[in-house]
Amino acid sequence: MLFISLLFLALLGPTSASASQALFTFPNLNVTYYYDHANFPYHPACDAAAGGPGWAKPTNEGASACGQSVKELNTNAVVAMNVTWLNSDGYASRLENLCGREVQIWKDGVQIKMKGGPFFLWEGCQACASLPRIDLSLNAYIAATGDKECHRGTVGSYDVYVMDNFVRRASAGRITLNPSALLFGLAFAAFI
Ligand SMILES: *[C@@H]1O[C@H](CO)[C@@H](O)[C@H](O)[C@H]1NC(C)=O
Ligand SMILES: *[C@@H]1O[C@H](CO)[C@@H](O)[C@H](O)[C@H]1NC(C)=O
Repeated sequence: MLFISLLFLALLGPTSASASQALFTFPNLNVTYYYDHANFPYHPACDAAAGGPGWAKPTNEGASACGQSVKELNTNAVVAMNVTWLNSDGYASRLENLCGREVQIWKDGVQIKMKGGPFFLWEGCQACASLPRIDLSLNAYIAATGDKECHRGTVGSYDVYVMDNFVRRASAGRITLNPSALLFGLAFAAFI
């Protein structure tokens, strides 16, 4: 029983012991969309605006800056950000320190939420290196903007935070014990 609760607490990770904090803050960005893991015809107007049926297939299936494709990850929660910033400390650092971190998107004090969230950083965006924006899935774009017909394309002004917790890890396939959560687990187990 003690062992089970220790293991359980250790696997929960940092958010079980404390609330996540913003590591990077990007105020006043625009949002746009660049892929759609859920297939059309759910949003035919967006499909047409984006280039017709199958427009998202190459992005859905292509490898991303952090490894697996959105299709492999089976998610619409991938966020692409400024590729220059993403790469500024090199490839290894990107994979270890940036890929998979939670991304929070806020507008006018309200956090944008989407079924299948939370959002996480998993791709570099070339346009975002020179324009103040982030790239999202179509579902996330609609959740953020309410623009179900994709009339607007890019919409401002969102505050974006890259958090200290990870939703995914780029070096997948291993379960890592979180030291602070393990300590918390030890203290908790001693208490009960
Ligand atoms: C993208 O990141 C680079 C490196 O951090 C920075 O110099 C540049 O201003 C950023 N671009 C935008 C549009 O914020
Ligand atoms: C940001 O979005 C606004 C509309 O909300 C648009 O007028 C502006 O051109 C966009 N800017 C960029 C850099 O995409």
